[in-house]
Amino acid sequence: LAKPVDAIPAGSLATLRRKAAGCRACPLWRGATHTVFGRGPAHAVAMLIGEQPGAQEDRTGEPFVGPAGQLLDRAMAEAGLDRDELYLTNTVKHFKYEIRGTAKLHKSASAAEQAACRQWLAAELSRVQPRLVVGLGAMAAKTLFGNAFRIGTERGQWREMGARARGVATWHPSAILRMPREDRRREAYAELVADLCKVATALA
Ligand code: URA
Repeated sequence: LAKPVDAIPAGSLATLRRKAAGCRACPLWRGATHTVFGRGPAHAVAMLIGEQPGAQEDRTGEPFVGPAGQLLDRAMAEAGLDRDELYLTNTVKHFKYEIRGTAKLHKSASAAEQAACRQWLAAELSRVQPRLVVGLGAMAAKTLFGNAFRIGTERGQWREMGARARGVATWHPSAILRMPREDRRREAYAELVADLCKVATALA
């Protein structure tokens, strides 16, 4: 991670999941149904890191099960990646939202909330030890590579992450879904698939 973490929580992934379920390091736990911890094999070779859970992830406690997850599933399948072999997680483990009528509208976690949550991502990285790390979207990319990172110009390029791992950032599926222009959506989706293909090639 680009910024150091004071103390990385100890224990297996199962222990971390249990500890994170009771996390009070920032106020987001108050409004959330679940802590959405990562999911996947304990020694997955590749880890995909999103932004933060949405409404469906909050309800189920599982990462990437809503609309963004469905688009990601499609892109992974096109790239030849098997979701069951990957470790999927998020930069921030709690849903943040504002109430609008009966809907819970997604809000982006603040820098302080992201900093408070970084311990869990640091722990997942240290336990899983993935050889390949994929940041989906700006929040994950900046957490991995620093605040100067720009998805638009720097996506799809491998960077060394210490001696044993490399990382790459690409579009977040939600960002693609939000793009107003159909041609830009199509182009960004093709870039997402192309970047995931690089991961599939590196895994083979
Ligand atoms: N967006 C994310 O970044 N993560 C999820 O788990 C779902 C939507």
